[in-house]
Amino acid sequence: MTENRFRAAAYSKTVSSGRVSWSAPSNIALVKYWGKKADQIPQNPSISFTLNECKTITTVSFSKKESEHEFSFDLYLDGEKKVDFKPKIHTFFKRIAQYLPFLKTYHFKIETSNTFPHSSGIASSASGMSALALCLMSIENLHLESEMAEADFNKKASFLARLGSGSACRSIEGDLVVWGDHKEVTGSSDHYGVRYPFTVHDNFKAYQDVILLVDKGEKQVSSTVGHNLMHNHPYSQQRFEQAHSNLSELIKVFESGDLDAFIGIVESEALTLHAMMMTSMPYFILMKPNTLNIINAIWKYRQDTGSKVCFTLDAGANVHVLFPKKESDSVLVFIKKELASFCQDENYIIDHVGFGANKNDI
Ligand code: DP6
Repeated sequence: MTENRFRAAAYSKTVSSGRVSWSAPSNIALVKYWGKKADQIPQNPSISFTLNECKTITTVSFSKKESEHEFSFDLYLDGEKKVDFKPKIHTFFKRIAQYLPFLKTYHFKIETSNTFPHSSGIASSASGMSALALCLMSIENLHLESEMAEADFNKKASFLARLGSGSACRSIEGDLVVWGDHKEVTGSSDHYGVRYPFTVHDNFKAYQDVILLVDKGEKQVSSTVGHNLMHNHPYSQQRFEQAHSNLSELIKVFESGDLDAFIGIVESEALTLHAMMMTSMPYFILMKPNTLNIINAIWKYRQDTGSKVCFTLDAGANVHVLFPKKESDSVLVFIKKELASFCQDENYIIDHVGFGANKNDI
């Protein structure tokens, strides 16, 4: 069983207290994860670009406590104690306790902040859960005779992060990460994300992602509710198969550098994700009128200029505008002049592909 390899070896050191800190990025899926089985196992493989600027910075201070019966932690967002986040962390701790035997022996103070505004409508669960998983892995390391090798450390961090939020397992490394068994992707697993192992054409290096904040409100549909809509969904099996074949196609595209083929797959994935929500029971429309205005403006710009800009969407109204680095100057002008007015308060975030999480010196 894959899970068994993540059970901790006997700890040889005792640690009474300490402090660790990590920054972990968000990621944007090109082939989407939508639908899961028990224990956070995805119904299909997904692949994402790791982002660079949208990050969560988490510091965990820990000290031994008397009783080992219960989890004990406090969570602070931007210095403010947040009780409403506690149930999610509690569920996470319950899921991962068997892999981190020290979890009930400490009181944890979890201090977290995001580089993007909390009210931006950008989900912080991927970056947040991966930063927390990495902090817990650093605490595990302190208990070991010699530190884990980096590859094993990252694999277990990704495995743990997945149990917090599926897409979080793709936020440990960069610049392209695959999560979910796929017959052509060497080393791929339903249990953790792996760095994309094949050739990537220079066209896809330092790819740009500008996140247009169309709706900064709370998510209309939580991801748990959303994933559950894929149970008994009339089109789910075809969709899961399509994700496999789209990933196979992307392997060829990453090798050849074919940007038109890339656009076709990425935009279709985004619209399919939303089509799944529109055709589930109950059904949802998560796009807003301005989401469509932006998509139409991107298509027109592409037709008028021959640009290779394209869009993708998460389970919400915001639009990720993706384009090659060499188009940065022109597309940023286009966004400012023609797309910013469709954003709430004209807000957007300029990001690009990055290389994963970093440990902070404290
Ligand atoms: C639409 O990872 O947020 O962003 O596992 O329930 O925490 P949970 O779901 P989550 O789902 C993200 C879905 C998505 C597509 C993707 O990132 O692949």
